[in-house]
Amino acid sequence: MSQLKIAKWAEHIKPNALQKGLEFIDTHHVSFGNGIPDLNLLPIHELDEILHSFELNSGELLQYKVPDDELKFYICKLLKLRNVNCKPENIFLTAGAQQALSLLACLFLNKDDYVMLEKHCYPGFLNAFKPFCDNVIHIDSTQAGPDLRQIQSSLERNVIPACVYLMANGHNPLGYQMSNKVKQSIVNLAEKYDFPIIEDDAYGLINYEAPSTPLRSLSTSHVIYVGSLSKILSPSLRIGWLVAPRYLIEKLASIKEGFDLNISRFSYNIATAFLKKHDLPKFLVFLNAAYKKKRDLTLSCLEKYCSNMPLSYSSPSGGFYIWINFENEVSVEKLKHHARIKKLSFITGDAFSLRKTGFCRGIRLAFSSPATDTIDEGIKRLSMVLNDVMELECSTT
Ligand SMILES: Cc1ncc(COP(=O)(O)O)c(C=O)c1O
Repeated sequence: MSQLKIAKWAEHIKPNALQKGLEFIDTHHVSFGNGIPDLNLLPIHELDEILHSFELNSGELLQYKVPDDELKFYICKLLKLRNVNCKPENIFLTAGAQQALSLLACLFLNKDDYVMLEKHCYPGFLNAFKPFCDNVIHIDSTQAGPDLRQIQSSLERNVIPACVYLMANGHNPLGYQMSNKVKQSIVNLAEKYDFPIIEDDAYGLINYEAPSTPLRSLSTSHVIYVGSLSKILSPSLRIGWLVAPRYLIEKLASIKEGFDLNISRFSYNIATAFLKKHDLPKFLVFLNAAYKKKRDLTLSCLEKYCSNMPLSYSSPSGGFYIWINFENEVSVEKLKHHARIKKLSFITGDAFSLRKTGFCRGIRLAFSSPATDTIDEGIKRLSMVLNDVMELECSTT
């Protein structure tokens, strides 16, 4: 059967490794694949209670409705924990942080523009900008954030991006926290050369050390902040938001209407009731302590099983991810093959990059998802996989 003609940009898109990772895996499998919250740490009973208190009798909950300011008011309170001061009128509610990224890509990008991002970038943003823009300025990453010299060199050559995508906290996939110096320098450049920064702070409330402030706290004119309840309450609520100046919010509301009209009222009501009834800062103390245990255990197992191998790894102060950096490139196919044999999953570095060479220089481990009592076994299997693959690489070169 002949296939219908689709848009040029869509011809080359393929399901990415993260989407595939959500498929079923058997119970003997240890998965460091997806950065999903640990179900045992979600406030299931509290959410269940709220869900059961809803009444559909009046039908009001079933109707179209533009959200009022109540949830935005609670989000403002939440953002104070992140040192972000804003008013409900600066908040725009979205279907998760992901939709906020898509709306912003749609708002800022023309086909001929340049988008600036790190060479290893959250794939959801790669998907978000592709329909709108063809040109990318790739920036290397350091342990303190994106390489400032490369950003500066692009700006001095007059290649000014239409927007820059950055994560200052809990970086996905590199697990770094941006230094204050890099943050301030990037914000200064954005203001000087007049380009917007899209700051993805999806993991901003998951911190294991003193939380660092977001870029947004340094500039309200040039940083658009993106946040989410997915990692702390539930990703299935699909509640996210962005913080932006009023004049942009009006435009974004029209763009969102073209996508899905409005956010789900069920989700809106559940999230509002939770934030009204429960002490979120207290819940975050519990949540962060639990994820910190998983992070520490994963790091100590890496030390135990992988310390003599030609690699290094990040020690994240927030978020769900540890990045393992190899001294030499290895074959993606071999990594995946050996991991399958050992019933193990992780995400290979190519999934975070637009350049597909068949080789990668690292992998991402999401320590949030495996059960705590499987982490030791999982890292032991990882060390065997890496040993096998690295030995094979040596014998073929
Ligand atoms: C860096 C980053 N940004 C955004 C998202 C999307 O989150 P949400 O579920 O709020 O759409 C994710 C999800 O994993 C993420 O890792």
